[in-house]
Amino acid sequence: MTRLRTAILISGRGSNMDELIAAARAPEFPAQIALVLSNRPDAPGLAKAKAAGIAVAAVDHKIYAGREEFERSLQIVLETYRIDFLCLAGFMRLFTPWFISQWRGRILNIHPALLPAYRGLHTHERALADGVKIHGCTVHFVVPEMDEGPIVAQAAVPVLDGDDAETLGARVLAQEHVIYPLALRLVASGAVRVEGNRVLGALAESDARLVAPAGDGVTNG
Ligand code: GAR
Repeated sequence: MTRLRTAILISGRGSNMDELIAAARAPEFPAQIALVLSNRPDAPGLAKAKAAGIAVAAVDHKIYAGREEFERSLQIVLETYRIDFLCLAGFMRLFTPWFISQWRGRILNIHPALLPAYRGLHTHERALADGVKIHGCTVHFVVPEMDEGPIVAQAAVPVLDGDDAETLGARVLAQEHVIYPLALRLVASGAVRVEGNRVLGALAESDARLVAPAGDGVTNG
């Protein structure tokens, strides 16, 4: 089995990165984590990845004149490591259409909300302010428009009376850690196909608990 050479792009602590690295340790996992790359040289996730024996690199966006110059450097690093596939995991920079076109169909992102609700930042605060009863997270293919693109997996969690952004965010994050490795496995193994804006072939009805995990998560069954 050829395992997809995958780079995880981070900007911060890298808890989703940890879960992807752990999942990819299984020999039958269809992706290998060949690189962790950050736009912030001081991202705590870099040290963790290094300790886990993964190659790491930093391309500091602040030293570049513009977005595209930054991305050209990223691209060189990714090509140097012969990367086939990208997972954005708390990577807090927007990409230009040029960069996305290099990686079309080969780049996933995790977002801390049930897209298409709550694109952008401060998703937990905004969900609480709106009084929604269900919140969650989404893994999707990246397209030029921010927080859009075909959805691979989602998990829902309840919003509880005593919640603040921190408690709600922690409940969502626990589900992010479940669905990101699942989504990478589905895509890297070729189990799913994209038709228009839909990702098909992932789940039988009986598997629906995988997209809306039981326990802390909400199921509709
Ligand atoms: C995660 O909650 C992820 O969904 C979010 O940043 C956090 C990173 O945490 N991503 C975004 O908001 C992207 N717009 P982590 O570094 O511990 O994985």
